[in-house]
Amino acid sequence: MKRPFWFPRPLAARLARLLALGLACAASTGAARADPLAEQGKALFGTHCAACHNADASGIAGVAPPLAGALRERLASPADQAYLANVLTHGLAGPIQSQGQSFNGIMPSFATLPDESLAAVLSWLAASNGVPEQAVSTATLAGARTERKTPGAVRKLREAGQ
Ligand code: HEC
Repeated sequence: MKRPFWFPRPLAARLARLLALGLACAASTGAARADPLAEQGKALFGTHCAACHNADASGIAGVAPPLAGALRERLASPADQAYLANVLTHGLAGPIQSQGQSFNGIMPSFATLPDESLAAVLSWLAASNGVPEQAVSTATLAGARTERKTPGAVRKLREAGQ
């Protein structure tokens, strides 16, 4: 009768210690780890946006504007966040200036991606602009979808925000 009781006890203690260690590790690395939404956004950016904007969102001269480090002000106000949501749901076309460079291309609409995915991409861009707390909500994307707009009309929103 003694053996079956004696045997599992140290095992259980060891498991409890392992579990505690695991929890401690998870807690200590948790703070340093990026927000899972932004991580998801980074992966989506690699799939859908990096070909034109570069993997690190630094842009490609003559092709597509920089997004990392260039959208800080546009992430700060609700009207400018609405502009970004409009770019993703309706596209953008016509001459623009960004970080002293000129672009005159066509940004395709990504309206086929769900609001959650577009919000995740914009959350990663918020993190890449040093303002992770300014993440764009799915509600802002849903709001942008309600009105039909041409890519040229979205450029007017960009000008209004400047
Ligand atoms: C086929 C190339 C292409 C792809 C793919 C693309 N973009 Fe763009 N993007 C552009 C171009 C070109 C512009 C500038 C359009 C212009 O000149 O008016 C732009 C502009 C933008 C802007 C506006 C920047 C500003 O300064 O106002 C944002 C935001 C943006 N893109 C985000 C994205 C995101 C996020 C994705 C992926 C979901 C993406 N783009 C995919 C080409 C692309």
